[in-house]
Amino acid sequence: STGYTAHFRVWRGDTDGGGLEDFRVEVHEGEVVLDIIHRLQATQAPDLAVRWNCKAGKCGSCSAEVNGRPRLMCMTRMSVFEQGETITVTPMRAFPVVRDLVTDVSFNYTKAREVPAFVPPPGVAPGEYRMQQEDVERSQEFRKCIECFLCQDVCHVVRDHEENKPAFAGPRFLMRIAELDMHPLDAAQQAGLDRKKTAQDEHGLGYCNITKCCTEVCPEQIKITDNALIPLKERVADRKYDPLVWLGNKIRRR
Ligand code: SF4
Ligand code: F3S
Ligand code: FES
Repeated sequence: STGYTAHFRVWRGDTDGGGLEDFRVEVHEGEVVLDIIHRLQATQAPDLAVRWNCKAGKCGSCSAEVNGRPRLMCMTRMSVFEQGETITVTPMRAFPVVRDLVTDVSFNYTKAREVPAFVPPPGVAPGEYRMQQEDVERSQEFRKCIECFLCQDVCHVVRDHEENKPAFAGPRFLMRIAELDMHPLDAAQQAGLDRKKTAQDEHGLGYCNITKCCTEVCPEQIKITDNALIPLKERVADRKYDPLVWLGNKIRRR
């Protein structure tokens, strides 16, 4: 098969700063961006830091930005670029750099911990849960998430607004709240946890103005906005305008 030489521009640096470095590098048919990064490590930049694991789009480790677009490097075919095109690879912009293409994604673990877990209904053993097929299918889509955090990286609410991070969980975790809120067997709600209220008041659902950038970059093609965030917003609105809730609030205020 025929190869060619590509022009790569890769961000190198650490917590003290850095910049773009230029490379000429060989490309063979069928390769992906991660192959080229590995070739750079093998031939020209042995200390280039990159995180990866499966090379199959399943571990969510190799997230970076290619020509400014958040992508999995192992799933980005070189054939999507023109041969003469300069290909710029930078670390995810919304998270602090550790070194080169490796970022510190602990923001996401913090947000994950802030969402209370599913509580099984009392007296029902695992394996004995009974649900409607449509409820099963709905949550199955959300459970395809590989935690690549590309959606978290692209969302404009935090991408250039570090100050919004404490108040905004990001699409991946608002989706998790939506999944649990729509789960017919989640007993946390009966025990007094109002997931809709926490989404709105603690996790910043109101910051999301449904730009759908998260959905566009999701490598698992999860319809984050249409199937999780918009329905969650509608459920929050229903709760707010539910006449009984409204009357209750009115009486309590007197
Ligand atoms: Fe990645 Fe999609 Fe999960 Fe977001 S929802 S972390 S883009 S797999
Ligand atoms: Fe952000 Fe997705 Fe909403 S990109 S604004 S969370 S639709
Ligand atoms: Fe696992 Fe890319 S290396 S998703």
